Amino acid sequence: TEETLVLVKPDGVARGLTGAILARIEAKGYSLVDIRLVEPDRGTLERHYAEHEGKPFYEPLLEFMMSGPSVAIRLAGNRVIEGFRSLAGTTDPTTAAPGTIRGDLGRDWGLKVQQNLVHGSDSPESAARELAIWFA
Ligand code: GTP
Ligand code: MG
Repeated sequence: TEETLVLVKPDGVARGLTGAILARIEAKGYSLVDIRLVEPDRGTLERHYAEHEGKPFYEPLLEFMMSGPSVAIRLAGNRVIEGFRSLAGTTDPTTAAPGTIRGDLGRDWGLKVQQNLVHGSDSPESAARELAIWFA
């Protein structure tokens, strides 16, 4: 069975949406293998977001991710990587489809980085790399 890394990002935790997001994940049928509250330092986030270094939203993204705790989840199930990405919706919460986590629970808050509630690994390679960072 496949595994992925899910993060409930600082906006999700601060807005009290962790339970609602977990309920959607559980209702879909995926299994929680491990879960923890995390307060990542800059080095951890630089590793996690290495692919985005140099992009205009990179610094605001790291600052946002250090603004408060996140919840890291090791999630398992057949095709869970694409399944969770589908459940999360597209990156921009303003236009993410209704029925998705980002589409139903997110919006544009007029900030430098898109606050879109969750992260999910985008490939088996990313999942292995990211799980090693957050669940060392
Ligand atoms: P993750 O699951 O968090 O990785 O989201 P994603 O795969 O849908 O997006 P991506 O990996 O491309 O970007 C990582 C994060 O950077 C996003 O979740 C947003 O928080 C932020 N981000 C991405 N693209 C933009 C952008 O064009 N503008 C702004 N302001 N933020 C962005
Ligand atoms: Mg991504």
